[in-house]
Parts: sequence; C-alpha cells; structure tokens
Amino acid sequence: MTKKLQTYEADSITATSAPGASVTIRPSKDGPLLVSGTVRVESEDGSLLQEGDKLALCRCGGTSNPPFCDGAHRKIGYRSKR
Ligand code: FES
Repeated sequence: MTKKLQTYEADSITATSAPGASVTIRPSKDGPLLVSGTVRVESEDGSLLQEGDKLALCRCGGTSNPPFCDGAHRKIGYRSKR
C-alpha cells in the first residue's frame, strides 16, 4: 500500500512522516504517545525540533519540553483513560 505524506498538527507543532513511511503512534498506559517510524517534528516556524525513529510525545500537559515527554507525567500522577 502506498501512503501519502502524512502530517499531524497539534498546537503549533507539525509532525511529518516521509512518503511511503510507516508510522505508528501508540499511547502508553499513564504516559506519553509513543511514535515509531521516521518522523520529523517541526515548530510553527518550520524549524526542526526533532527527527528520529522513536519519539515520546507528551499527552499529560505537564512536560517542560513540549511536545516531548520529559517524564513529568509520573510526578503529576497522570492517569490515562484507556
Ligand atoms: S506524558 Fe510524559 S511528561 Fe507528559
């Protein structure tokens, strides 16, 4: 299956996967969204924030390094709904 360029946007952050690349986003229990696959994460002005094959994106809102998880979910006792 051929995939188109995939773009994900949240707040002022854009995450883009390469054409044909397979990207998986899996929520971890009581923790971040785990992204696997080649992904480029850019800020609103297009500057590169991170590029890699494995990323952890914050979903608790407690990180001091958005959009990436910095482990703050443990300190604030974040609990995922599922
Ligand atoms: S999910 Fe880890 S800091 Fe928010």
